[in-house]
Amino acid sequence: MAEPVVLISDLRFAWTSGEDVLDIATFRLEAGERLFLRGASGSGKSTLLGIIAGVLEAGSGQVNVLGRNLSSLKPAARDRLRADHLGVIFQMFNLVPYLSVVGNVTLPLRFSPKRRAVISGEEDDEARRTGAALLFVSHDASLASHFDRSVDLGEINRVGMTV
Ligand SMILES: Nc1ncnc2c1ncn2[C@@H]1O[C@H](COP(=O)(O)OP(=O)(O)O)[C@@H](O)[C@H]1O
Ligand SMILES: [Mg+2]
Repeated sequence: MAEPVVLISDLRFAWTSGEDVLDIATFRLEAGERLFLRGASGSGKSTLLGIIAGVLEAGSGQVNVLGRNLSSLKPAARDRLRADHLGVIFQMFNLVPYLSVVGNVTLPLRFSPKRRAVISGEEDDEARRTGAALLFVSHDASLASHFDRSVDLGEINRVGMTV
């Protein structure tokens, strides 16, 4: 099987001086997979997305994105990985108000020559070969049927489990 897009093992994360929000033994997101991650409000979905995107740092454990261990990367290298390979769509969209629709959609291309090359066709084969993965989070379990696989954050996160 191809290398997973995201591979997490023994992840722990706490906001400053707080208790653990996440304690996840293992989590995988495969290339080409559309995965639905369901979790109650406040259960840590956005925190987990921030860790995968390299915006938040894991307290301990391994977070691999496209085969790279995020904690071994300097912040600038994490920014580069995100600019080149990750897209994040927020619930509130976070559009830039003074840009046009096209300007908003193509904004990531300004940060990543690699992405520009993919869009302009120089690397498309590469995109098809690797297969993009989609990770969608919501509290609404009724959306699960739209995805290849669904995972309940409450079942993989040992925080808050009542044995
Ligand atoms: N910036 C932050 N500082 C401190 N605590 C936070 C912060 N963001 C989220 N939390 C806490 O982390 C927990 C998980 O939050 P979050 O990841 O936003 O959950 P979800 O996205 O599933 O609603 C909650 O207890 C929340 O209060
Ligand atoms: Mg959230």
